[in-house]
Amino acid sequence: MKKFLSVLMAGAMLFGVLTLAGCGDTTEPAAEEGTTTEDTTTTAEFTTVTEGVLTMSTNAAFPPYEMTDDSGNIVGIDAEIAAAIAEKLGLELQIDDMDFDGALAAPQSGKSDIVMAGVTVNEERQLVLDFTETYANGVQKVIVPEGSDITSIEDMQGKKIGTQRGTTGYLYCSDTVENGGFGEENVVAYDDAIAATQALNNGQVDCVVIDSAVADNLVATNPGLTTLETEYANEDYAIGVAKGNTALLDAINAALQELIDDGTVQSIIDKYIPSDGTEADAGETADAADTGAADTEGAEAEAETDAAAE
Ligand code: ARG
Repeated sequence: MKKFLSVLMAGAMLFGVLTLAGCGDTTEPAAEEGTTTEDTTTTAEFTTVTEGVLTMSTNAAFPPYEMTDDSGNIVGIDAEIAAAIAEKLGLELQIDDMDFDGALAAPQSGKSDIVMAGVTVNEERQLVLDFTETYANGVQKVIVPEGSDITSIEDMQGKKIGTQRGTTGYLYCSDTVENGGFGEENVVAYDDAIAATQALNNGQVDCVVIDSAVADNLVATNPGLTTLETEYANEDYAIGVAKGNTALLDAINAALQELIDDGTVQSIIDKYIPSDGTEADAGETADAADTGAADTEGAEAEAETDAAAE
């Protein structure tokens, strides 16, 4: 289970750093708190791969975070959040679909500005990417055929496990048994979660391990499949930029923070995950989530919630 812990710790460390950065100045008690954060995102001098464009790499076979609609457009939670960020930064959004490994590598190799693909923050990735703050949470879930003899994580020992190549689900499962995994020889890596699910339908694997929202989505569209109640690992999703690209990271973080604060991010998540039960952070969800925020045009703070001031 070491890997699980390191993921959690990486998330905690990242959060800690951000928290520290946010509360450095406490000299003047309440005076400066009153100013509303309008658009503070125009300051940093960042450059993008293509001028005027925010290029996002992703793997669009990961519903509801990213998928293609009937007309071939990439839609989903990540696509909408990225569009809102691009708008705040005055950039046009361009989304490039590729395999997941490629999407992760693209910022570092100068092919994209950001990777946004339901990417879990972990130590390995932090070597080549800098991550924004968290915008969503997920857990790894196990998909099994209805009536499967796999009813718990322990039952997965010795079974064939389907995963998506390059994902944390693959990393956990393919680890040694001593480390909480199931051994590489028992894990099959597919190009994406949809292919893994097809393999499960065809009886080529006994279960599939994939992020919860995606698992729920795939179960809903594949009759005869279900998920185990157990939550396999807890993860934080963030946006990755090339390691050291601080100007872009800061600009995106500022835009993202505004979108979190005004409820836009939550309303996008709620739109795609209607029964979202994950209440991982703070619990301070403003109730205005699904009223007017769906269209992110004006993004005016609904100065109803004074909770932060105390
Ligand atoms: N959260 C998992 C990870 O970071 C899976 C992400 C897969 N994303 C995708 N768009 N296919 O490894």
